[in-house]
Amino acid sequence: LKRTSIGFRLAAWYSLVLAAGLAVFSVAAWFGMRASLFHAYDDELRDRVKGVQKFMDMQISALSVSEIRDEFREHSVLGPGGDLFQVCNEQGEWLYRSVPLENGNVPIEKPSQLESPRFETLSVAGRPLRFYSQRIVVDGQPYTVQVASPLHEALEAMNAFALMLVFAVPVLLAIAMAGGYWLSKRALDPVGQIASAAQRISIENLAERLPVANTGDQLQRLSQTLNQMFSRLESSVRGIKQFTADASHELRAPIALIRTTAEVAVQNRKREAGEYLAALDDVLAESERTSQVVESLMLLARADAEKEPIERAPVDLCNTVRVAAEQGEKLARSRHVQFSAHVPPGPLRICADAEAIRRAVLVLIDNAVKYSNPGGHVSASVGVDGTDAVVSVADTGMGISPEDLPHIFDRFWRADKARSRSHGGAGLGLSIARWIADVHRGSIEVESTVGQGSVFRLRIPLLNQTIPEP
Ligand SMILES: Nc1ncnc2c1ncn2[C@@H]1O[C@H](COP(=O)(O)OP(=O)(O)OP(=O)(O)O)[C@@H](O)[C@H]1O
Ligand SMILES: [Mg+2]
Repeated sequence: LKRTSIGFRLAAWYSLVLAAGLAVFSVAAWFGMRASLFHAYDDELRDRVKGVQKFMDMQISALSVSEIRDEFREHSVLGPGGDLFQVCNEQGEWLYRSVPLENGNVPIEKPSQLESPRFETLSVAGRPLRFYSQRIVVDGQPYTVQVASPLHEALEAMNAFALMLVFAVPVLLAIAMAGGYWLSKRALDPVGQIASAAQRISIENLAERLPVANTGDQLQRLSQTLNQMFSRLESSVRGIKQFTADASHELRAPIALIRTTAEVAVQNRKREAGEYLAALDDVLAESERTSQVVESLMLLARADAEKEPIERAPVDLCNTVRVAAEQGEKLARSRHVQFSAHVPPGPLRICADAEAIRRAVLVLIDNAVKYSNPGGHVSASVGVDGTDAVVSVADTGMGISPEDLPHIFDRFWRADKARSRSHGGAGLGLSIARWIADVHRGSIEVESTVGQGSVFRLRIPLLNQTIPEP
């Protein structure tokens, strides 16, 4: 029942509202019918009083009281409602009194007591009657005329109508409830299908998609939204798998190299001390590179998990770049590349983690030096562009081809896998630099011409001096 509980709740609410509506309708219909029936009766009674008055107007002067009584008796049986009426004068003398009213001893008011015409329902000899009393003046004399109509037919009709409502309304309600439940179940069925289809999709078969019915309704949107979510999940899972595969590959190669170097050195026991030293040197260098790769990997993993602490504080970018340039100078010297730094006295204040910024600048200088030929030139400079501080690192190296440009920030991506490997690069430097730029709400731009060199620009928003950042 859990799965269909929305359908059930919908149907229940719908039935409740419908039941209330039908109840209100039934009561209103019954009262409406009663009002219109009584209205018809009352109109007829009023007409009959008019008839009596007309008759008396014509006859009163010519006839005696007993003659009038006879006339009344003769005429009244012909009119509608039979002879159910009584007439009396101010002295309480009866001009006419029909037998049933006399037997029932129905009281009448004298003309002077009856202030205004009056309708009432009374029971005479167990039969319900509708009465109408009115004061009339004939030939200067006031009389009270009271006419009556049997009500039993109207009451029977009303009872029949009430009975019909009492039986028909629950039947109608039951049909509507069943219909409502069926409809809501039908409307929600696709939700169940979507749910079971979604259940089948797991990390193993993330490429599968939910069927999308082309109905243009919310359910189509639900399937589409879920499919989009699966696409995003799929691409991030693919990214994670790729990252793990690349990372193990990156680590396997240097470890294999260390191992073979050590094995070769150990196998041949009649080696010179110098050969052992050379082997150890190789092992050391490769281990250093490996631990650098491991450190980069851990940094990126922590960045992905948003656990890498970035503590931003107002710092002078010029100082930070000066420190990075000193380290870059050493790198350049070891590779016989000329290096120059153009850093203004500053300060250029940015809100940043100085250590992270230094690291990003060093990644750019390291690349510029690494991908330059000996004798090439690398320059680092700091400037301002609009509201940003810009660190530019330019080289006269090999450059990057336009096809490669979109990929250089991807993890483990290298233009020339074999050659970069010999330089010790794992293809992680620019990913880390891009992440650092991002967390500082900055960016990295590249301009490059193959064979002529590249310019990398790191942009970081300048700290607004008037509104200090929190
Ligand atoms: N200044 C540059 N000149 C030419 N190619 C570059 C330059 N900077 C980056 N590249 C290309 O972009 C690739 C990615 O650079 P990245 O810094 O991410 O990795 P890496 O330098 O190969 O390795 P790592 O920085 O992890 O030691 C490089 O392998 C290189 O092909
Ligand atoms: Mg690099």
